[in-house]
Amino acid sequence: MCGIIGFTGSKEAQNILLDGLQKLEYRGYDSAGIAFFKDNGSHVSIRKTAGKVDDLRAICDEENNSTCGIGHTRWATHGGVTNANAHPHKFGNVTLIHNGIIENYHELIEKYNLKGQLKSDTDSEIAAAVIDAHYDGDPKEAIKAAVKELKGAFAFCVLFKGHPGEVYAIRNVSPMVASYAAGAGAFIASDITAFIEYTNRYFVLPEYHLLTMKEDGIFLENLSGQAVEPEFMTVDWDVTTAQKGGYPYFMIKEIHEEPTALANTINPRISDLLPDFSADEVPDSLFAGVKDITIIACGTAMYAGNVGGAFIRNKLGIPVTVAIASEFRYERPTISKDTLVIVASQSGETIDTLEALKLAKQYTDRTLSIVNVKGSSIARESHHVLYTHGGPEIAVASTKAYSVQVAVLYLVACKLGLVNNSLNEADVRDFISDLRNIPSMVEELLNQEDKIARQADRMANATDAFFIGRGLDYSLSMEGALKLKEISYIHAEAYAAGELKHGTISLITDGTPVIAIATQQNVYGKVVSNIREVKARGAYVILLSKDKVITDNTICDVHFSLPAVRDELTVFESAVILQILAYYTSLGKGNNPDQPRNLAKSVTVE
Ligand code: AGP
Repeated sequence: MCGIIGFTGSKEAQNILLDGLQKLEYRGYDSAGIAFFKDNGSHVSIRKTAGKVDDLRAICDEENNSTCGIGHTRWATHGGVTNANAHPHKFGNVTLIHNGIIENYHELIEKYNLKGQLKSDTDSEIAAAVIDAHYDGDPKEAIKAAVKELKGAFAFCVLFKGHPGEVYAIRNVSPMVASYAAGAGAFIASDITAFIEYTNRYFVLPEYHLLTMKEDGIFLENLSGQAVEPEFMTVDWDVTTAQKGGYPYFMIKEIHEEPTALANTINPRISDLLPDFSADEVPDSLFAGVKDITIIACGTAMYAGNVGGAFIRNKLGIPVTVAIASEFRYERPTISKDTLVIVASQSGETIDTLEALKLAKQYTDRTLSIVNVKGSSIARESHHVLYTHGGPEIAVASTKAYSVQVAVLYLVACKLGLVNNSLNEADVRDFISDLRNIPSMVEELLNQEDKIARQADRMANATDAFFIGRGLDYSLSMEGALKLKEISYIHAEAYAAGELKHGTISLITDGTPVIAIATQQNVYGKVVSNIREVKARGAYVILLSKDKVITDNTICDVHFSLPAVRDELTVFESAVILQILAYYTSLGKGNNPDQPRNLAKSVTVE
């Protein structure tokens, strides 16, 4: 999704903007640009190009002492990837950058008679034109009047000719955070990663509130012009955390951070080996009397929900529906006031998940979000939130966020069982004692990285791959398939092992890679039979199991032995192996695993 940054202060703006855009690259983009006041603010200058931030840097002036500007990385929605469609867009006295989609742009073209005046195919340029149409010398009034006419999601940063040193910002749905750092100036961006090196304090710009940024300070107001005090928060990580730290890519760094992320997420929520959400201010009453659960998410978060949902069903025997957020929004919700709605999201900004949450809140006030980004839209929208303390996840392919989401879902399951007397304390203590050891088990698995990497060579030439398992292993295999395909571009799908014979086995031919996960003891024999069926048809089988050694070569070609943990906890181990397999397969194909084609880290537009 698009990346936004704005700055005004005492420092030179150009490198702040360019470096900030570089830190937002992980959001996914295809063009970039900046705008800044020049010649003592007498006019606004723009540099923009299709391509990468490095390409933008190459067309920027060596010397640029401007101290106020805005920058943008564009993930194309309206209009192709061209220099003209890159942001910023200038119309009359207005120059802006935009993240979001203006749904009524056709109507506005007619209303403002813009045909023939536009230089791009974007909805964003039309927003600039509408603001300009309302501009009669007062930037704030122009923006307030214009946003009343715009339908859809937007995050704008706006410069006005004749107002040097001033940046104006307003949002609806699309995310923006801002801050003011004495000695530096005022910052605004899609997320704090862009300006973390200047401050770790930030506030979320409230929707339909207007922020005025000047060198000497910021002013936040609602559309009625009443001043509003920003609600500042701080992040507990610093600029080095948001960098690669010596790893070649963020993805492998974040895989290696999983033991710490798991420990930081699990341990503060355990007291006396029982789940404790008091520090999160999540009351036990949220769970009392819950009759059923709906878990809503997208992508990897949804697959984490599948694992958590299967665990809750098996442990507590209550109905759990795992809903794809973009589907849930348009179905008839089957939730009641006794439904616990759990919403999972790493970014906390996924538009489908956010809108699904808003819909669910019409039926129940038992909404709980599991989110990694503090203060994000989904966290603020839900009645309760359990943050995953995974630290920033920059790589588009989610890894540590998946594992910590599953861990939180497991803790929620334990809490649900205790509050509703369907689990006894002894069993829960026993389980949590094992859960608490998972970080060290994952750490131990990371030592198999080289062995896993060697398998990637075998995978890199595949055109198709299948992930099979039963029970929790089947739920886990869905994430394995997504990881592989999204960064290696190999078509991969997950299949319930017992279902293969009902069609898909026809696709298994000589050398087809099949990643089989067989850790659930109650169905182990069945999975082995299914593996033999694909092996007999020429599949190349990579097996993940708790067996120490596999000598029977009719079962697999390669075996990864998982440290012995209880069945429900092997998902954390299998996940790491599949993440590393996907990472090295992507590298083997010459891809950039951090920024796979067409993908964005957070899907903030529908
Ligand atoms: C996963 O690797 C992908 N990046 C994608 O499926 C992602 O999980 C999905 O877009 C949901 O994002 P969220 O967790 O930030 O809501």
